[in-house]
Amino acid sequence: MLGVRKAVFPVAGIDTHFLPATKASPKEMLPVIDKPLIQYAVEEAIAAGITELIFVTGRGKRVIEDHFDKSYEVEHRLKARGKQNLVELVQDIKPANVECVYVRQAEPLGLGHAILCAEKLIGDEPFAIVLADDLLDGAPPVLAQMVHIFSHYDSSVLAVEEFDSWESTTHGVIDGRHWDERVISVSRIIEKPSPELAPSSFGVAGRYVLMPSIFEHLRSVKPDLNGEIQLTPAIHSMREGEQVLAYEFVGKRYDCGTKLGYVQATVDFALRHAELQETFDAWLRERVGALQLGAWATGSMLNQPAPGVQELAH
Ligand code: G1P
Repeated sequence: MLGVRKAVFPVAGIDTHFLPATKASPKEMLPVIDKPLIQYAVEEAIAAGITELIFVTGRGKRVIEDHFDKSYEVEHRLKARGKQNLVELVQDIKPANVECVYVRQAEPLGLGHAILCAEKLIGDEPFAIVLADDLLDGAPPVLAQMVHIFSHYDSSVLAVEEFDSWESTTHGVIDGRHWDERVISVSRIIEKPSPELAPSSFGVAGRYVLMPSIFEHLRSVKPDLNGEIQLTPAIHSMREGEQVLAYEFVGKRYDCGTKLGYVQATVDFALRHAELQETFDAWLRERVGALQLGAWATGSMLNQPAPGVQELAH
């Protein structure tokens, strides 16, 4: 059995949640602290043993190519200032054994269509799909967990997590039965159902390890009401002929396609960032204390005791 060597990063999509920030720059380049979302996604893939990164890009996304390319100018300037540690930091963005390949999706015709654009580059081998706006924090990294499950069962694997029922409208939702600890055999998958139609509370997070047979199913998917070809119906059709597993990954998902998820990721990552950890932690505690005091003073916490000085300080 071939290992998983290739990963597709669909990055052609146009963002509306972060305008005006994303008017001229790709949403995948939004930084969480000091690293763009796409770099977190790439690091996760590399940690899972992926050595070929296939970016499905579109207009206005050239800066992603530049990010993973060598920058002689930046390196030269840093060297001239004696900042060797920063030279290494920019050089390490793409390890030497990893190759980046780019293919254009001329029109934003959906996730399934983006994956089809990578078909020739994938060929006849299993591959991963990584959606960079889902920032997954896991140890081991979530894609590495999935590659392990994939190799063990020799079946396609989707990352899933339990969500609140109203979130069904933002996820692919699965139905199935538990096969093993954290492993569910998928019997059905529906794209973004209303809460009444959701078959379970397990939604797909943006990581997939798929058999190449997905391409034949993608080719027969009909466009949805927005004229887009989705990945979910192709997976549904695929599981009629072969086993598809869902894996409840160990870790935390930040939906960085939304402002709330993005801010939550920023706060959590700042709390363990070498440079910020201490100062940010102190600032946050002070801020939370002030917010509690404010809430208490305005009556919304009248039934709760006012926080003591000690509590506020720690
Ligand atoms: C896509 C998929 C959806 C999945 C989600 C995870 O939706 O179509 O099935 O649950 O990613 O983030 P999107 O977020 O691109 O609308």
